[in-house]
Amino acid sequence: MSQLLVRGGGRLKGEVAVQGAKNSVLPILAATLLTADEVELRGCPRLRDVDASVRILRGLGCEAHWEGGNLLVKTGGLNAWSISDILMREMRSSAIFLGAILARCGQAELSYPGGCELGPRPIDLHLSGLRALGAEIGDAGGMLHCKAPELKGREVVLSLPSVGATENLMLAACGGSGVTTIANAAREPEIVDLQNFLRACGAKVYGAGTSTVTVEGKQPLHGCTYTIMPDRITAATYLCAAASAGGEIFLRGAREDHLATVTAVLREAGCSILADEAGIACTCQGRLQAVRPVRTAPYPGFPTDAQAILMAALLRSQGATVFEENIFENRYRHVDELTRMGANIRVSGRAAVVTGVETLHGAPVYCTDLRGGAALCVAALAAEGETTICEISHIDRGYEDLARDMRALGADAARIE
Ligand code: EPZ
Repeated sequence: MSQLLVRGGGRLKGEVAVQGAKNSVLPILAATLLTADEVELRGCPRLRDVDASVRILRGLGCEAHWEGGNLLVKTGGLNAWSISDILMREMRSSAIFLGAILARCGQAELSYPGGCELGPRPIDLHLSGLRALGAEIGDAGGMLHCKAPELKGREVVLSLPSVGATENLMLAACGGSGVTTIANAAREPEIVDLQNFLRACGAKVYGAGTSTVTVEGKQPLHGCTYTIMPDRITAATYLCAAASAGGEIFLRGAREDHLATVTAVLREAGCSILADEAGIACTCQGRLQAVRPVRTAPYPGFPTDAQAILMAALLRSQGATVFEENIFENRYRHVDELTRMGANIRVSGRAAVVTGVETLHGAPVYCTDLRGGAALCVAALAAEGETTICEISHIDRGYEDLARDMRALGADAARIE
């Protein structure tokens, strides 16, 4: 099993280009099913979750291959509409394929995506929205049997701004007759990227980034060449790494407008952050200060995906910071591992109180999930001695090569196969 070896104590100095966004490319890969023409995705990150999505596309009879950092997809050979249980279990966000398969094929079969490390990951909003558009969905024996001979546009109101449900309904609506309006839609930047991709293919989609997304269905869609937006959570990870270890870094291609709540908190903690069209520069000198309560919320609130990594950056801050995790039920699994490094964190329900300590010490620690694993790396940069991070396959789901990028930023980090 691969491991990440980090020797802490040194300040960071360096720059790195931010990879393409995982949570944008995954729904866009599903969206490629909406056209039989070739699609070229530029700046596509090489991630385990992208590999899993490529296996799903190939399992459906589609072609997909890499040319350098670009992924070329051709779905003209599509000859199936079911996703195997094994492939579904590899990546629970595979549910995002459902809307696109229904739009293209009029039917779909896939197993119920299980929960994950973060807790149960229901898809009731996806299914109720698709049924509202005319899909007949039965679940028997853990399988979803879906038929949608005629998807029809209408207004769908989401009871909460689910990212995945918004994306699934946008893709299904592209295959529906008439106009679909998604009310209380998620507003994440990845939704805007999906809209921009769909528009590049000739779709009529409006309102992404606001709470109301509108789709005029049945547009003839064609192929395109599309560049994936930069990954805001990867950028947040590297900013928190600089905050944790101290130093000065530059993140090429990072967009502060996608990260305003994260940069605001880091500035409050004492970091100096400057952003322009080329990227984000971050300088952190001296000990950080604790900050006002950090409450995770749907975009544009503080992103749940940055909770663990910010917590790791504040472990040696002056004072105490309260975190409130409002999106997922079980997103403090990294706390026990951080405590093994000397952190002082008290968890009670959705709240976690981080009291700054003078010193962290390196230790063997285990990744519990994707962002929890990244948090261990952020903490290790500030710890005295060596930290061995195990089970880093979790990290590989969302980061192309964390050790490579950390070294580019001046850290003493290496991947051990
Ligand atoms: C997306 O997950 C992201 N994943 C997550 O990133 C991210 O944490 C999350 O959005 C919130 O921003 C991808 O985009 C691939 P949701 P998603 O539907 O779509 C509940 C990472 O680390 N819910 O907005 O699954 C759900 O249980 C990952 O990159 C329902 O109850 O998130 C959760 O509590 C982790 N019923 C809340 O809504 C539903 O039908 C938000 O979920 C759907 C969701």
